[in-house]
Amino acid sequence: MRSSAAKAGIAAAAAPAASPCNTRRLLFDVVVISAGSLGGFAAFVPYANEHASRSAREGERSLSTMLNWFLYKRFPRLHIRWQPSHGGCGKLVSFISGAQSMSSRTLNLDDTLYDYLLTHSLREHPAQTALRAATAKHARGGMQISPEQGQFMALLIRLMGARNTIEIGVFTGYSSLAVALALPDDGRILACDISDEYTSIARPYWEAAGVAHKIDLQLAPALATLDARLAAGAAGQYDFAFIDADKTGYDAYYERCLQLLRPGGLIAIDNVLWDGSVAAVAEDNDTAALQDLNRKLHRDERIDLSMLPVGDGLTLARKR
Ligand SMILES: C[S@@+](CC[C@H](N)C(=O)[O-])C[C@H]1O[C@@H](n2cnc3c(N)ncnc32)[C@H](O)[C@@H]1O
Repeated sequence: MRSSAAKAGIAAAAAPAASPCNTRRLLFDVVVISAGSLGGFAAFVPYANEHASRSAREGERSLSTMLNWFLYKRFPRLHIRWQPSHGGCGKLVSFISGAQSMSSRTLNLDDTLYDYLLTHSLREHPAQTALRAATAKHARGGMQISPEQGQFMALLIRLMGARNTIEIGVFTGYSSLAVALALPDDGRILACDISDEYTSIARPYWEAAGVAHKIDLQLAPALATLDARLAAGAAGQYDFAFIDADKTGYDAYYERCLQLLRPGGLIAIDNVLWDGSVAAVAEDNDTAALQDLNRKLHRDERIDLSMLPVGDGLTLARKR
């Protein structure tokens, strides 16, 4: 939700209540403006001198009008105003909505910013990097989760102290590898997939990373594997589940995982934004299935919920 100051378009730059994050951004903006505007200021000096000789007040008003026009043209997203002060040199008075709204909703990442994010945060095991490179050459390589999502899931595993986990949809094994690396040595992944062709790519990388012993790959329809675990009395024995397979199966996987997880366990569900198509009228069964599941989870009292714009959309559902 936006602050009332932002709604009213009132100065935010000087607001003492700005969060540390906003303050850093505002400082950055000031530096950028100061540097970027030097040339512009130089151009205004003769103009200001000329006008000062007529009437100080009129000169200041004209100068500030032109300066504000210049600032608006040069930094349209920042909404900065220059306020003249009689006898002084004036000051920057308003950072209207631009800087505020940037932290009140998630950024869209362009390529430059995404590169920055990876460069400044990604920590991959060499086997992960190699597997990602190999998967990128695969015809279906787009099915792999993003590396920052893998790292985020690994962090969740460590935060939870997870030991027993489930993965539904292995493909070439990148998400399994990320989770397996974060598990303790006696941790396990019940890894479900139907494709020997895809998953056989994974094994050498799991072995290279020294985590193959943690991954119990079951080549069968995931629902059969999960039902077999439930029939064997494994309800409540798992800490974490990652759902990333056929979308029309998601609801059944979610229900099975809810049974298999302990209270406090976490289900991560991939592709919940489905490249943005969930926000439009569904034109296929996959989109409709994801829309139905998103709607269901929103009001599901059995879980605590967070839907994140990570990768293609990641829902976290904590079993209550
Ligand atoms: C999106 S990919 C998984 C990507 C993987 N999590 C990664 O990050 O690399 C989906 C996988 O689900 C598998 N799959 C599809 N239908 C399945 C089913 N009924 N049971 C188990 N796996 C299935 C496919 O073979 C495919 O490998």
